[in-house]
Amino acid sequence: MNPKQSKKQTIRALFTHIAPAYDKINRLLSLGQDQSWRRRALDYTQVPAGGKLLDVATGTGDVALLAAKCFPSAQIIGVDLTPAMLREAQRKAQMHSAAAQRIHWVQSDGLTLAFPDDTFNAVISVFMLRNVPDVSRALAEQVRVVRPGGHIVCMEMTWPRRFPMTWLFQVYFFGLAPLLGQWIAGDRAAYTYLPRSVKQFPTPATIAGIMEAVGIREVTWELQMLGTVAIFVGVK
Ligand SMILES: C[S@@+](CC[C@H](N)C(=O)[O-])C[C@H]1O[C@@H](n2cnc3c(N)ncnc32)[C@H](O)[C@@H]1O
Repeated sequence: MNPKQSKKQTIRALFTHIAPAYDKINRLLSLGQDQSWRRRALDYTQVPAGGKLLDVATGTGDVALLAAKCFPSAQIIGVDLTPAMLREAQRKAQMHSAAAQRIHWVQSDGLTLAFPDDTFNAVISVFMLRNVPDVSRALAEQVRVVRPGGHIVCMEMTWPRRFPMTWLFQVYFFGLAPLLGQWIAGDRAAYTYLPRSVKQFPTPATIAGIMEAVGIREVTWELQMLGTVAIFVGVK
């Protein structure tokens, strides 16, 4: 197995194990802020009435479900590599609005999206890029399936670079995440991977450069939560 396949298998196994606890740990680690970041990211998609939105790496579906609320007439598709995460998404959708019942959930790899070119008005991915073996490929696929003029929005955690935030974040994240992982998901290793993957992830400027290199125009980003979350926006 090549290293990319191997990373995908590892990631799928990790998310399969933590799927039932994923939302709870997100809310706790983000101090209840993660849904407001997702809403903010969705604002940038600018999906028109009746438009089509793709949520790549939808996971337990929080972005797609919020999108169904924000854009009730839109056609929303949530794609993820891990069936266990999608099952959580489908379970949650059943408790939501009629618009949420119309979301399509598709098990698929974000590095080889099973959609024709120029299909969607916008594509969004939240907390995906850190988990894929090829960031450039993931972004190239996203731009491929967006219509010309459509928005590509990515949200990712970033490691703050300035003292004292970098030090505080180190203590908070490496201290708390493994404990919550152990306590709530019974999986300390998955939540040790989390801060490590954020620390190793390229800077926002590097990610913006990769977005431009795959043909995304007008790339900008904003930081949230004291520089620990970045929302990237670009246009095809
Ligand atoms: C941290 S979760 C993010 C879930 C969701 N977007 C959110 O807002 O919480 C990362 C998700 O990316 C998915 N994933 C990882 N690699 C993927 C790939 N190559 N294609 C599609 N999904 C992938 C995982 O299965 C997992 O559900």
